[in-house]
Amino acid sequence: MPKKRVAIYPGTFDPVTNGHIDIIRRAINICDHLVVSVALNPRKNPLFSIEQRVNFIKKGLKGLKNVDILPFDNLLTDFARKNDAVVIIKGLRAVSDFEYELQMGLMNRNLDQTIETLFMIPSQEYSFLSSSFVKEIAKHGGDINKLVPKAVAQELLKINI
Ligand code: COA
Repeated sequence: MPKKRVAIYPGTFDPVTNGHIDIIRRAINICDHLVVSVALNPRKNPLFSIEQRVNFIKKGLKGLKNVDILPFDNLLTDFARKNDAVVIIKGLRAVSDFEYELQMGLMNRNLDQTIETLFMIPSQEYSFLSSSFVKEIAKHGGDINKLVPKAVAQELLKINI
């Protein structure tokens, strides 16, 4: 039997947006198994706990097959290797993402030559989206229903009431 091709899609996901969900759905089509890896990332001082961030993604994917959603707090390349992943998936929304992503991709290759980085383009309607924008819009009472999964919108509404 041929070996399963495992890909990893890392991020802070504070919180997951429909743009991330769009990338996850596209990524599943090109690998056998996808590991969505949620970085603890205290440097970013996340609004949501790691458990909340993992649960939001689970709810957003509604039992989609061939996906695991796992927290991690170490080097991405180490975590990828531990999960037998051979590809790191990153979303590119605009040219402005490219420089930073290229730097990270090259550094990750420097850390592990066997893991490739693959850039994917989200649907055009999500190309302007980011987790920070969503939090800011919600804070000021704007409508975020089309931008994030339902569970995220409900939780942000609760926080801001
Ligand atoms: N739709 C919507 N938003 C998207 C998106 C998409 N498809 N893709 C990226 N974004 C946004 C995120 O919402 C986030 O926005 P915010 O800053 O407003 O919250 C922003 O892009 C950055 O995303 P983030 O998830 O924080 O990813 P990152 O590119 O900064 O990398 C890790 C985060 C976890 C992948 C990276 O820090 C890492 O690998 N850490 C582990 C330690 C390590 O190995 N370090 C060495 C790396 S060389």
